[in-house]
Amino acid sequence: MYLKTLHLKQFRNYQNQKVEFTAAKTILVGNNAQGKSNLLEAVELLATLRSHRMARDRDLIKEGESTAQIHGTLDRIHSHSDLTLTLRRHSRRSVAINGVTVPRQMDFLGVLNAVEFSSLDLELVRGSPEIRRNWLDTLLIQLEPVYAHILHQYHQVLRQRNAFLKRYVNTPEKSLQSELAIWDAQLVTAGTRVIIRRDRAIKRLSPIASAWHASISGASEVLEINYAANIPLEKTSPQELQAAFFAKLQQRAVAELHRGITLVGPHRDEVELIINQTPA
Ligand SMILES: Nc1ncnc2c1ncn2[C@@H]1O[C@H](COP(=O)(O)OP(=O)(O)O)[C@@H](O)[C@H]1O
Ligand SMILES: [Mg+2]
Repeated sequence: MYLKTLHLKQFRNYQNQKVEFTAAKTILVGNNAQGKSNLLEAVELLATLRSHRMARDRDLIKEGESTAQIHGTLDRIHSHSDLTLTLRRHSRRSVAINGVTVPRQMDFLGVLNAVEFSSLDLELVRGSPEIRRNWLDTLLIQLEPVYAHILHQYHQVLRQRNAFLKRYVNTPEKSLQSELAIWDAQLVTAGTRVIIRRDRAIKRLSPIASAWHASISGASEVLEINYAANIPLEKTSPQELQAAFFAKLQQRAVAELHRGITLVGPHRDEVELIINQTPA
């Protein structure tokens, strides 16, 4: 697969810019604030529909404009595709493949695959768990596009459950039990799906990363990557995992109602990087 052209309209600092990638490698050179990172961000958006800068759509649209468009053409072994992402200041974004609007954004994902490697990746090791979760989620969205939908569902339930907890902060748990149970069931169902896919991805990645790490470090270091969920993951079946999730929610119910936020679930999980049995 090969990205052949990129056409940016009213995206970030670009008014109307066509770029053709004709060589096997392309080097972008320019002074600060000329749009190098913006161009890479456009590629990232076509691949994942996300930006690691966590920008909102209106930040991506050129100042003073109401829409932006990123259009890319790809050469693949057996086909040629073109991808269009349209961003709007006052309504929802839309996506099209080969000129045809795709109603489900999920179907747009996975057409273009991109890997970003940068000095900021140090943050993956040094930064907060959120950075590692976000990195893993972006990877998963490209590998298993349905994951975008699963993650969205989880965040939606989480937001609603948090709003509920906040509204009834410090209310005795007993009086809320039946209503809370409804949110718990949804949180557990959606959350378990997130946990299972993240754990599976890390289990696939870990041996590959370990092998590469050993070859770079001269085999003096052993790298291990684990998905550390805040509920025990030894449980093998999804049902057992769900039961463990429920149990943990029950355990933390008083604390949750005291603080008014959800304390259990994949939004608080960690991706552990361990070298020679010590956190990296
Ligand atoms: N929504 C926007 N509208 C107009 N300009 C923008 C927008 N977002 C970012 N910029 C501009 O893009 C420039 C930064 O581009 P960037 O790609 O980060 O530069 P670099 O080439 O250093 O990587 C800045 O001048 C910034 O003002
Ligand atoms: Mg830059």
